[in-house]
Amino acid sequence: MRKFLTSTLAVGTAALLALSACGSSEREGDTAGNPSGAAKGFAKDALIGVALPSKTSENWVLAGDLFTNGLKEAGFKSDVQYAGASTTVADQQSQITAMITKGAKVIVIGATDAAQLGTQVKQAKEAGAVVVAYDRLITGTADLDYYVAFDNFKVGQLQGQALLDGMKAKKATGPWTIELFSGSPDDNNSGVFFNGAMEVLKPLIDKGEVVVGSGQTDVKQTATQGWKAENAQSRMDSLLTSTYSSGKTLDGVLSPNDTLARAIITSVKGAGKPVPVVTGQDSEVESVKSIMAGEQYSTINKDTRKLVAETINMVKALQAGTDPTINDTKSYNNGSKVVPSYLLAPVIVTKANAAQAYADDPKLGPLTK
Ligand code: BGC
Repeated sequence: MRKFLTSTLAVGTAALLALSACGSSEREGDTAGNPSGAAKGFAKDALIGVALPSKTSENWVLAGDLFTNGLKEAGFKSDVQYAGASTTVADQQSQITAMITKGAKVIVIGATDAAQLGTQVKQAKEAGAVVVAYDRLITGTADLDYYVAFDNFKVGQLQGQALLDGMKAKKATGPWTIELFSGSPDDNNSGVFFNGAMEVLKPLIDKGEVVVGSGQTDVKQTATQGWKAENAQSRMDSLLTSTYSSGKTLDGVLSPNDTLARAIITSVKGAGKPVPVVTGQDSEVESVKSIMAGEQYSTINKDTRKLVAETINMVKALQAGTDPTINDTKSYNNGSKVVPSYLLAPVIVTKANAAQAYADDPKLGPLTK
């Protein structure tokens, strides 16, 4: 496992962090408790900053709305910003600096680039604001106070297992031929998702029961810059030409999210090939429809409403001068510290459990089997 990861993943913070998230021997536990330097309580109507990445999937759009409404309901002032579509890093950096200048007491950040916010997080800390990484870890800074997320390593494991289950349901015995896709390299989650999936798939790849048709198993080769659908689609087009034009069957594709899953399916259909088992994540409306229609195989339910609610609970605790609830102090090492985290459990969704999984989700409405 370790050997495979170090030899095939990009050498960088994301890979190191992802490694630290997968082996218990590498999980350190030291940092429960209150962030040093953070103000002990603050005004009930204080400003709370929320800096989100660009809208690369529906969950980010929903999160922005939920933060605006939820913080208002809780009595806070809010400043919710998205990084632009192209100059994302610089945009987000200046948005955070502006929030600090305006006196925000808590700054919630969905990082557009995990490794590029150390200066802003330090400035926030110095100004007495608490910084909470939301969904995506911020790396290389000891000034980050908390992390609130669905357990991303678990997301990857569920995706890897769903890929196997889906392929076995279609063809009981292997070998199965697959291709691997990962997310944007600047998002720390990408390496964590990939490593979680590989923890499940790698033993079977080693045994030859699962074959990566193109041989592309390095996270650099599988990456999808900017989480952009067109990048996944064009890589899938190339793979179909290079590896599958002579009639070899593609049984499955590991896709890290729904936007990319649909792009991969579009590519395969465009080439006139049967749709393989394709995984996803985010419960996007079009993907859930595709699952119900028997095309995309799986998605992950990470209920954004719960994630935002837990983050707002953390803000409320900080406002009252109490310690926010933390349920993990060992899994997410950002390269400078193990970040005290509140982790929620992701749920795998296939056609079999979709109706039940989304029973109370207004976005998806009642589903029929
Ligand atoms: C989120 C995923 C999302 C992706 C692209 C990741 O950091 O965890 O839910 O699909 O970003 O927006």
